[in-house]
Amino acid sequence: METAHENSSMATGRVIGNPGVAPDHFLLTLRLPSEFATPQPGQFVMIRDPERDEPLLPRPLSVYRFHRENDQAIMDLLYRVTGRGTSLFSRMKRGASLNVLGPLGRGFTLQRDVRQVILLAGGVGVAPMTFLLHEGYLRNTSPQEIIITAYVGARTAKLLTGLDRLKGFCNLRTATDDGSAGYHGLVTDFLRCDIGGYEPEKTIIYACGPSAMIRSLGLILKKSTIRCEVSLEERMACGIGACLGCAVKVKDVQGSSAYRRVCREGPVFDIREIALNFRPAEQDIRL
Ligand SMILES: Cc1cc2nc3c(=O)[nH]c(=O)nc-3n(C[C@H](O)[C@H](O)[C@H](O)COP(=O)(O)OP(=O)(O)OC[C@H]3O[C@@H](n4cnc5c(N)ncnc54)[C@H](O)[C@@H]3O)c2cc1C
Ligand code: FES
Repeated sequence: METAHENSSMATGRVIGNPGVAPDHFLLTLRLPSEFATPQPGQFVMIRDPERDEPLLPRPLSVYRFHRENDQAIMDLLYRVTGRGTSLFSRMKRGASLNVLGPLGRGFTLQRDVRQVILLAGGVGVAPMTFLLHEGYLRNTSPQEIIITAYVGARTAKLLTGLDRLKGFCNLRTATDDGSAGYHGLVTDFLRCDIGGYEPEKTIIYACGPSAMIRSLGLILKKSTIRCEVSLEERMACGIGACLGCAVKVKDVQGSSAYRRVCREGPVFDIREIALNFRPAEQDIRL
């Protein structure tokens, strides 16, 4: 699944639903013109309310679900209110319009030579993981070929969102920081307990979540050969590679430092390209 900027367009999305699904979490469903290109798992869109001057910049959100109905495209976005832009989105009512630029970025790579797929999601990181599960693996592989296990973590049970689209579709393992549901502790600690049971050559891990989760995963995999792709989040202004505002420091294959634009070369990266920088307190990667 590769970059599809060539296919991206600016479209008007009509809100057909925007219910709250958990405290500060909303599920935005948009109707888009039929020409809107089908997003690949891991890709995102930049959205903005055209009626307002503030905030000026669009906000990036990962595609959670996408399907076509008659001559229209329907897209779901799962988001958490963290500031002005997302707070504004949360007040949008059915019938309102949003500018939608996308699909953008380079998505996840589908691996067919594995036996075990692990999806690791922290908070709203569950959105791209679920899209990858349904449109990547369930659509293109059979359960006889590949076993899929999703580890989903949140601070508390009420914030474990999106489980309805995971339950029954994969092995589901939940974790909460306060122990109110599932494993009591960090989702990465849950994975750490299990990791020895997965055969490295036959396993791939995909992850999306807060920076601390990605760092912990990098440390867990430091001595492992398990393949791993992570979706990074970075503040974005343009979303199309023009402003360089989303650049993160990585190591290239020769081990030299380089910069990559999360919106263009990412948001999905091989964790080893970035994990080389991982030390718990280090801020090379700002998420
Ligand atoms: C490729 C990509 C996909 C994303 N997908 C989702 C998604 O599916 N669901 C979702 O809820 N969020 C997602 N995000 C994060 C989302 O874009 C930010 O939460 C949002 O832009 C914040 O905007 P705001 O105006 O509400 O907050 P602001 O007022 O701009 O900021 C509020 C707080 O959020 C922090 N913040 C701002 N932008 C980001 C960012 N990009 N990443 C992390 N922290 C940020 C700020 O440092 C600040 O603490 C994604 C980000 C990227 C880059
Ligand atoms: S957001 Fe402008 S280059 Fe990535």
